[in-house]
Amino acid sequence: MALKQRVFSGVQPTGNLHLGNYLGAITKFVALQESYDCIYCVVDMHAITVWQEPHELSHATREVTAAFLACGIDPKKHIVFNQSQVAEHAELAWVFNCVARLGWLNRMTQFKEKAGKDRENVSVGLYAYPNLMAADILVYRATHVPVGEDQKQHLELSRDIAQKFNIDYAASINNHGYGETFFPLPEPIIQGPATRVMSLRDGSKKMSKSDASDQSRINLTDDADAIALKIRRAKTDPHALPSEEKGLETRPEAENLVGIYAALNDTTKAQVLSEFGGGQFSTFKSALVDLAVAKLGPIGGEMKRLVQDPVYIDSILADGSQRAQAIAAETMKAVKDIVGFVRR
Ligand code: TRP
Repeated sequence: MALKQRVFSGVQPTGNLHLGNYLGAITKFVALQESYDCIYCVVDMHAITVWQEPHELSHATREVTAAFLACGIDPKKHIVFNQSQVAEHAELAWVFNCVARLGWLNRMTQFKEKAGKDRENVSVGLYAYPNLMAADILVYRATHVPVGEDQKQHLELSRDIAQKFNIDYAASINNHGYGETFFPLPEPIIQGPATRVMSLRDGSKKMSKSDASDQSRINLTDDADAIALKIRRAKTDPHALPSEEKGLETRPEAENLVGIYAALNDTTKAQVLSEFGGGQFSTFKSALVDLAVAKLGPIGGEMKRLVQDPVYIDSILADGSQRAQAIAAETMKAVKDIVGFVRR
């Protein structure tokens, strides 16, 4: 059976969305709409693997949805919804809890990092998180998943789960007329290091919503003044910009700002340096302020407008959930037959 090429990706509704999420993920999601059927999910069930203030969780869910829409994701042609409205994610995740091996999860570096020394005290959900992520993807039998480098290992686990399911249930898959394999092995679409956006305060750290300093990141909802101030205050070094990319090698802060400019302007670092190389940092920063305000200002404005209309946002999520569920329910029926669950 030829499966239609389908993209799935998820974003957690925890904290502010920033320039790193925009350049690293959301602009990629927007571009993929041209060539795939896309499903973009606000993964609220993943969010609660770490406790969330309930009203902040609802707000963040609507805000991520608003960002998707403001950046140009089309919720009519594609699907935008929040995870918890489609119960099949949790249902398939349980089956996957029984397919994935303890040893596989024990190797997940993100869990080790997040749990740290407090391993005995983190939620069971945080540990089983990659199984839910596999269910997110495979309940739609998605073939392509745009993810950052940090999620690559989780995606490999999804492939392992798909493969083990296909093998463990091979006979039953065949007996029920589902062909040779049931789940596709989802391919990552990795967003390269070119769009890794670093902190404005420390060029060796990723821009992050959990950084204590708000000056370290540009939030998608920052207004023009805030954007300008953060860029002007961004850490740099005392040297002029080089004219060649090689000259950025030992200058992470300069490299980051040049990379941000290139990504926002859809060009290369080399191109940016051919224009600004040899000049003062302040001249380059002024140009970056203008560019960032021009690109991000309208997005932030639209997000704020949308967030003030929760009835509209919720209607988008309800509609997306219904259409997502229609697909997910078909997969779950088949999974129940394959596993041997008696069903209606
Ligand atoms: N784990 C992802 C992150 O933290 C979010 C996510 C959940 C996801 N389910 C997914 C990403 C499925 C891609 C596909 O970024």
